[in-house]
Amino acid sequence: MPDFVIETADPLDWPGLLCLLQTANLHHIPSPEMPGLALETTFVARNGEGLAGIGGYKMTCPNAAKTTLLAVHPSYRSSPIGQQLQECCMAAAKAAGAETLTTNCDLPAEIDWYKQLFGYREVGHLLKLHSFGAPDIDRWTTLETDLTAWTGPQRS
Ligand SMILES: CC(C)(COP(=O)(O)OP(=O)(O)OC[C@H]1O[C@@H](n2cnc3c(N)ncnc32)[C@H](O)[C@@H]1OP(=O)(O)O)[C@@H](O)C(=O)NCCC(=O)NCCS
Repeated sequence: MPDFVIETADPLDWPGLLCLLQTANLHHIPSPEMPGLALETTFVARNGEGLAGIGGYKMTCPNAAKTTLLAVHPSYRSSPIGQQLQECCMAAAKAAGAETLTTNCDLPAEIDWYKQLFGYREVGHLLKLHSFGAPDIDRWTTLETDLTAWTGPQRS
C-alpha cells in the first residue's frame, strides 16, 4: 500500500485537484453540474508525488449531507485511498449532524462499491445536465446511506 496522508484541501491544491479530477471527467467546475467546491469540506490524499485522491461533502440541511466529488488517480486505485476518503466524508458529515448521506454515481462498478462497502441503497435517477463523469452514461443513480447506522471506518 503506498504511503499517503488525508487532510483538508488547501486553496493551493486547486491546480492539482483539477488535474486529478480530469482523469475522471469530473473537472468541470464551475458548471451547471458542479457550480463550486467548498474546500473546507473537501479532503485530499497526498503522497510524495502530489495528490492521489479527493473526496468531499456538503450539508444540504441541518440533518442531511451530500457527497460532492470522489476520485482517485488511476495510478493509485485499489490502494484503498477511495475507501478512506469516503469514510472521512461519512465521519465528518455525521459529526456535523447529518443522519443521511446522498451520492450521485454513474458507473455500475462504483455503484456496487458504494452499496457493498458503505450501506448505500438506490433512491432514484437524475439526468445529467451535461458531460460529467462517465461520458457514455447520461444519468446519475442517486444513492443514500443511513449515517445513524454507520459504526465507523472498517479496517481488515
Ligand atoms: C470510486 C473510486 C474513488 C474508488 O477508489 P479506489 O481507491 O480504487 O477504491 P478502494 O481501493 O478504496 O476500493 C477498491 C477496492 O474495494 C473493493 N471493492 C470494490 N468493489 C467492491 C464491491 N462491490 N464489494 C466489495 N468490495 C469491493 C475491492 O477490494 C477493490 O479493490 P480491487 O479493485 O483491487 O478489487 C475510484 O474508482 C474512482 O476514482 N472512480 C472514478 C470516479 C468515480 O466514479 N467517482 C465516484 C462517483 S463521483
